[in-house]
Amino acid sequence: MSLLIDGIGELFTADDEGTVHYDAALVIEDGKIAWVGHRLNRPAADEYLDLDNRAVIPGFVDSHAHLVFAGDRSGEFDARMRGEPYDGGGIRTTVTATRQASDERLRENCARLTAEMLRQGTTTVEIKSGYGLTVEDEARSLRIAREFTAETTYLGAHTVPSGTDPDEYTALAAGPMLDACAPHAKWADVFCERGAFDGDQARAVLTASAKAGLGLRVHANQLTEGPGVKLAVEVGAASADHCTHLTGADVDALANSSTVATLLPGAEFSTRSPYPDARRLLDAGARVALATDCNPGSSYTSSMAFCIALAVREMGMTPAEALEAATAGGADALRRTDVGRIAVGARADLVVLDAPSFVHLAYRPGTPLTHAVVHGGSVVSSSAAKSSAAKSSAE
Ligand code: NIG
Ligand code: FE
Repeated sequence: MSLLIDGIGELFTADDEGTVHYDAALVIEDGKIAWVGHRLNRPAADEYLDLDNRAVIPGFVDSHAHLVFAGDRSGEFDARMRGEPYDGGGIRTTVTATRQASDERLRENCARLTAEMLRQGTTTVEIKSGYGLTVEDEARSLRIAREFTAETTYLGAHTVPSGTDPDEYTALAAGPMLDACAPHAKWADVFCERGAFDGDQARAVLTASAKAGLGLRVHANQLTEGPGVKLAVEVGAASADHCTHLTGADVDALANSSTVATLLPGAEFSTRSPYPDARRLLDAGARVALATDCNPGSSYTSSMAFCIALAVREMGMTPAEALEAATAGGADALRRTDVGRIAVGARADLVVLDAPSFVHLAYRPGTPLTHAVVHGGSVVSSSAAKSSAAKSSAE
C-alpha cells in the first residue's frame, strides 16, 4: 500500500542534499519514504493526501530524556524561581518517590509522557534510568523504558545515593548493577559533575559499560567546567550532553571528534541558568543536537518545539540550524541513519505543521502547530484526521 502526500508547501528534509524544498510531494510505502520531489513530478499511489500547502518536517528525535520516575518537584522549581540555585541534589527526591512506586505507576507515567511527545511530533525518543540507583530499581527502570523505545540508557551513575560511599557506589555501578542492566540497555551515561561523579569515577563506569557492549553518552559540563566533555571525546561517546560550561579546549575536542554536542536548553530555562553557546560550537565545526532532557527536576518539558524556540532566541542558532539539530542532529547523537531525515529509504516519520514554514516553530513559540504526525508510515496523531482522512487516489 503506497500513500502519496501532496500539496506540501515547504518540505524541510534535513538530509545531505539540501534542506528546504517548495511545492513538494512524497510517497510512503511499507513504512518508509519511497519518493521525494517536486509535486509536478509526483508518481501515482494507492492513496492520496493533500496538505494544502502546509510545511512538513522530519519527526523530532529527542535523544535525551529521563522518563522513568514518580513524583513531582514543582516545589523545587518554585523555590528556584525565588532564588534557590540548582545543584542536582533534587535527584534524590525523585529517587525516593521512584523506589516507592509500583511498576504499573512508573509504566503509566512513561506512557503519558511518550504519548505527550508523540502528539507534539517526537517520533524517536531515548529514555534513561537513573532514579532507581539500586541494582533492582535500575534494572526495572530499564525494563519499563524498553517497553517504549529501543534507545534505552543505563544511568546508574546519576548521583551517589545518600548514605553511600562514592567509590563503593561507583564500583557497584561499574559492576553488578551494570551486569543487571546491560541486557535492557543500548547505551550507558554518567553524570560527570562536581557533586556527582568525578572524571576517574565516570571513566570507570563508562569503560566497564563499553566492555559490556553498550554505547556511551555523558552528562558533561552542565553546572561547571570539568572533565566531562574531554572524557566523552576520549572514550568515543556518541554524545556529550549539556555542554553549558565549555573551555576553548572542550570546543576544539568536540569539533575534532564524532561526539555530538547535545544541548538541552529546557534545563537552563528551568534552572534559570545561562544557556550554552551553540553558535560557538557550530562555528568551530562541532555537530550539535537539541533535546528536551525531560525530567521532573531540571527540565520538565516534552516539547522539542519549545527547545527549538529557546535555541533560536537564546543560543544563536538560526531556525534551520535548530530544526536540523532537533531531527538529524538527534539521530546522529543516537548514531541512527534511519530516522531524523526525510530521504528515500528512511523511516516515514513526519510532522505536518499547521503553518506555511518550519520557521514558525520559533516564530510562534508556545503555540501548538502540529497538524498531523506520521510514525513509521502511519498517521498516529492528527488534528485533521476527522476532516481529511486519506482519500483514494484518483490520480
Ligand atoms: O540532565 N544533570 C543530571 N540529570 C538531570 C537532572 C535530573 C534531576 O534534577 O532530576 C539533567 O538535568
Ligand atoms: Fe539529563
